[in-house]
Amino acid sequence: MSKQRVLTGITTSGAPHLGNYVGAIRPAVEASLSGEFDSFFFLADYHALIKCQDPDIVHQSTLEIAAAWLALGLDPETVTFYRQSDIPEIPELTWLLTCMTAKGLVNRAHAYKGAVQSNEENGDDADFGINMGLFSYPILMAADILMFNAHKIPVGRDQIQHIEMARDIAQRFNHHYGEHFVLPLAQVDDEMAVLQGLDGRKMSKSYGNTIPLFSSEKKLKKHINKIKTNLLEPGEPKNADDSTVFQIWQAFASAEQTAEMREAFASGIAWGEAKKQLFELINKQLDEPREKYNELIANPSDVEAILLQGAEKARSQSTELMSSLRQAVGLRRLV
Ligand code: TRP
Repeated sequence: MSKQRVLTGITTSGAPHLGNYVGAIRPAVEASLSGEFDSFFFLADYHALIKCQDPDIVHQSTLEIAAAWLALGLDPETVTFYRQSDIPEIPELTWLLTCMTAKGLVNRAHAYKGAVQSNEENGDDADFGINMGLFSYPILMAADILMFNAHKIPVGRDQIQHIEMARDIAQRFNHHYGEHFVLPLAQVDDEMAVLQGLDGRKMSKSYGNTIPLFSSEKKLKKHINKIKTNLLEPGEPKNADDSTVFQIWQAFASAEQTAEMREAFASGIAWGEAKKQLFELINKQLDEPREKYNELIANPSDVEAILLQGAEKARSQSTELMSSLRQAVGLRRLV
């Protein structure tokens, strides 16, 4: 039997942050190194345009996120690593899928519903500030996944709905036009699905609460010091389970270190001390990759060459699938 195919992407709308590392890059690179899977990892730059319309940010973020993957051990020889916008078959497939997607399904997408709800709460028009990209985003994401017939999609809990929609859309397409797509499954790591950000909500570029993955040591320290805590004094016992400092600690520590920190919380470790230890833990793990990262950022042509090679690998599959899909839906030569 051939290997299960794993696919995941990161949106290129800002600097890579600890949440991207813990939630996507680290597990994906580990899985790819195990040799058990056929891995597809990509830079979701079409997705970036939905929320980020500053061309320089999209461009810079693409370099930074690519460099982060590579610095953290991704081997472009053993995986297929590419930039979404180098694969013109993806927007082409998006259209075929769009025409097979019930509007009612997309109405239920939580990113869109959330935007409508917050408009209503603010007394604005329901559609205020919502572009069609935000509305159709689950269909573009379905195209990312179905294009390469991926089986497993490692994502944070907040993305499960999108994978289920990709499955629904694939099913409808298969039912109507014949079996073309594998039905994908979300893979959620229960222990560490979503890392918390500075304010305790999910760490996300959209919330502006991220800790950058590869800033200087000084900046890393500064960000960690900004993590929200309660007002308990040194010596007062603290609850590890509702603490962002502890949650992030857990994402980087061994089981043993986590148990020790839990004890330290119970016996009243000062917030300043806990944050200092957190900084040291993270900094030690990022020290070496940081050097590699800085080197790659200084040599964008190396990164570009890797991405173009990846696109070539990816397109050897996407052009083939797309041509059979065009046949299947009736977009055929006349003779
Ligand atoms: N929407 C995902 C996120 O914001 C990124 C993404 C785009 C993705 N396309 C994907 C993830 C396909 C997995 C598979 O996190």
